Amino acid sequence: MAKITEEMMDVIKKTRGFAIATATKDGMPNVVPIHFTDIISDDEIMLVDIFMKKTIENIKNNPVVAISVWDWDAKPTRKGYQFKGEARIETSGELYEKGIKMVHEKKPKLTPKAVIIIKVKSIFILTPGPDAGRQVI
Ligand SMILES: Cc1cc2nc3c(=O)[nH]c(=O)nc-3n(C[C@H](O)[C@H](O)[C@H](O)COP(=O)(O)O)c2cc1C
Repeated sequence: MAKITEEMMDVIKKTRGFAIATATKDGMPNVVPIHFTDIISDDEIMLVDIFMKKTIENIKNNPVVAISVWDWDAKPTRKGYQFKGEARIETSGELYEKGIKMVHEKKPKLTPKAVIIIKVKSIFILTPGPDAGRQVI
């Protein structure tokens, strides 16, 4: 199981957004920044779909995704992680309600459509240096 550690959580808390990469079934890539996010267990990441178009279509057809997060202020170098896994879409239930609440607390006028739950399967280091690109799990 790919476990999100405390060290990774620290970077996640400091990232300015999550970059999520998806692809069509025939490999056309798409990457977008997402603000409304949560870590719901030690191997699950939640993103809230408010405006997704290509992203959600890609996930429906090809659930494999990659996410990058980074701490721009980490010293002496920047620090980052990449999470790869399988995404599923939920449009009702506890997690969906949680996602809606998260958005409405900050932006009551927005209308979330779904939550995307990513089961993390592998984790890579992005931090510049000799370990960049190395798989952790
Ligand atoms: C800084 C920033 C934060 C964003 N946060 C979200 C978000 O939390 N949820 C969302 O659905 N879209 C968010 N968007 C919009 C998406 O990045 C993107 O525009 C949307 O998914 C449509 O692109 P697509 O057709 O490639 O999916 C955000 C955009 C920016 C620039």
